[in-house]
Amino acid sequence: MPYTAPTGTKDILPEEWPFWRCLEQNIQRITALYGFAPIDVPIFESTALFTRGVGEGSDLLVQKEMYSFQDKGGEELTLRPEFTAGIMRAYVEHGMHTQPAPLRLYAVGPIFRQEKPQAGRYRIHHQFNVEALGEEDPAIDVEVMSIAWDLYDALGFQGLSFMINSTGCRICRPNFVQALRDYFTPMAAELGETDRIRLARNPLRLLDSKDPDMELRLARAPVIHDYLCASCRDHFAALRQYLDLLGRPYSINPRLVRGLDYYVKTVFEVWAQGIGAQAAVCGGGRYDGLIEELGGPAVPGVGFGSGIERIILAMKAQGVSVPALPAPLVMLAYRGAAAKLEAIRLLQMLRQAGIGALLPYRDSLKAQLKQADRAQARFALILGDDELAAGSITVRDLTGSQQVSVPRSEIIGWLRSAGEAAPTPAQSVAAVS
Ligand code: HAM
Repeated sequence: MPYTAPTGTKDILPEEWPFWRCLEQNIQRITALYGFAPIDVPIFESTALFTRGVGEGSDLLVQKEMYSFQDKGGEELTLRPEFTAGIMRAYVEHGMHTQPAPLRLYAVGPIFRQEKPQAGRYRIHHQFNVEALGEEDPAIDVEVMSIAWDLYDALGFQGLSFMINSTGCRICRPNFVQALRDYFTPMAAELGETDRIRLARNPLRLLDSKDPDMELRLARAPVIHDYLCASCRDHFAALRQYLDLLGRPYSINPRLVRGLDYYVKTVFEVWAQGIGAQAAVCGGGRYDGLIEELGGPAVPGVGFGSGIERIILAMKAQGVSVPALPAPLVMLAYRGAAAKLEAIRLLQMLRQAGIGALLPYRDSLKAQLKQADRAQARFALILGDDELAAGSITVRDLTGSQQVSVPRSEIIGWLRSAGEAAPTPAQSVAAVS
């Protein structure tokens, strides 16, 4: 095999598309219910946007995982490693703070991270990303979280719950970070290399250590909730109250800090069972201060990113069924050169009338009808010398074996009413696991 897809990337083959389409449709439906408008931003941006916006201390993302390059004009560019920084850049660039707040935006598209590939972790993944800008009220945090919840619910996920935490704010968090530094510094020599770097650069990330030796140390480490200021405490209490009110299941994880530096107050994740170690299907939180850092006004924000590949992995693991993509309603079949010409003319006429139609590329009628079956067409429209002479067409219902003769001038109307009366097999729900 001369070429294969690059490490950590994958093709999305036609058989995967019913899942993607089902997700896209639910995303469009649910974001519309919540009043979120679509936005898209460039796939690459200035590297500086991410080194500033995502945070120099962000766990590995900025240091190692970005696909950065210099273009032929000498510009330093980076394939987007997340949506948030680009959307904030667009918000500032287009003066969107003058629009009524909260501004509700969502985006769907590819994200690039040079990670170590494994099941559920890719170098190109796709995110459904949601941002609400200009509101501090924790009720909007819950609205944002509810979008993810409603999506997973509509897709038929079972047994999901939010993991939530407050990571404090610029006022109270430094005290907590100092407490962590004071606690871990005397044991610095015992820490693994990654954790030693974290201690030096961003002690908060120690809470996310994967080193099994850290378990005991972390169990005795200072806890963020003892350091929250009154404003962060109240915000977190109200968040929980609203989640309780809506009956959204959640657990509080005081060690949940997330990998990006910009979060303050609310952070949350949703984990799915049965898809291996990379089980976070959604992660997000509040990032008041980020827009200011990018040179914009002091506008608060909250949002999340949800990995589409991981959602699909979880759907498959849970045996969720999705509707198949609609198949063309008819396949034309013909015998002889004159009938082929008429079939080609008819093919265009049907498509122009909004009726899905296929032309078989086989000579024998038998092989053509086999193709019609494979294509899951509902009807075969058969043209031979007799039909040509009579101005008719033979319609065979491929779900049974009935055949009728219909005047060719009436075929569009006939197919419209027949198609409405009974959907093609491919339009019904297919159990795909
Ligand atoms: P994140 O946690 O880095 O957050 O990514 C969000 C989600 O994207 C993860 O929960 C996971 O489902 C998916 N994901 C991340 N990396 C990969 C990967 N390598 N392969 C497959 N899926 C992956 C952010 O990106 C933030 N910008 C989210 C946000 C928006 N926060 C506020 N607004």
